[in-house]
Amino acid sequence: MTHSLTILTGGSRGMGLHMALQLLSPQRHLLCISRHVNRQLADEAQRLNAPFTQWTQDLADTTTAAQRLQAWLAEQDAAQVASATLINNAGVIPRIGPLEDCPPED
Ligand SMILES: NC(=O)c1ccc[n+]([C@@H]2O[C@H](COP(=O)([O-])OP(=O)(O)OC[C@H]3O[C@@H](n4cnc5c(N)ncnc54)[C@H](OP(=O)(O)O)[C@@H]3O)[C@@H](O)[C@H]2O)c1
Repeated sequence: MTHSLTILTGGSRGMGLHMALQLLSPQRHLLCISRHVNRQLADEAQRLNAPFTQWTQDLADTTTAAQRLQAWLAEQDAAQVASATLINNAGVIPRIGPLEDCPPED
């Protein structure tokens, strides 16, 4: 039977974690990518019998992230994948304030 594939960045906490919890399903393979894993998510996936993969990966290292994802996708059986979705949620909100008060690195 085919399944859908969803790749979600930043699923370890915040909005991403809540999206991930809602996306867990036996009919969907969910790949979560963030710098830390979330134990609650792994436990919930197991409880629901939902196909789930969780990576620790700093997405600021774009070359490694792209190579790793490419290799992982090549291992998947494309005939079994009915659809593929990327939710690119990872990110941080810098301090909010007047531009002239923001440090240049922000
Ligand atoms: N919350 C808001 O009010 C709001 C408003 C507008 C837009 N947004 C956007 O919505 C998204 C989620 O916001 P949020 O409030 O849920 O953020 P959050 O609680 O700070 O969570 C950010 C997520 O992104 C991951 N992440 C951050 N930097 C990463 C990196 N270099 N590599 C891999 N993963 C990284 C974090 O995981 P790790 O720390 O484990 O890496 C975490 O899972 C962000 O893109 C944010 O800019 C949020």
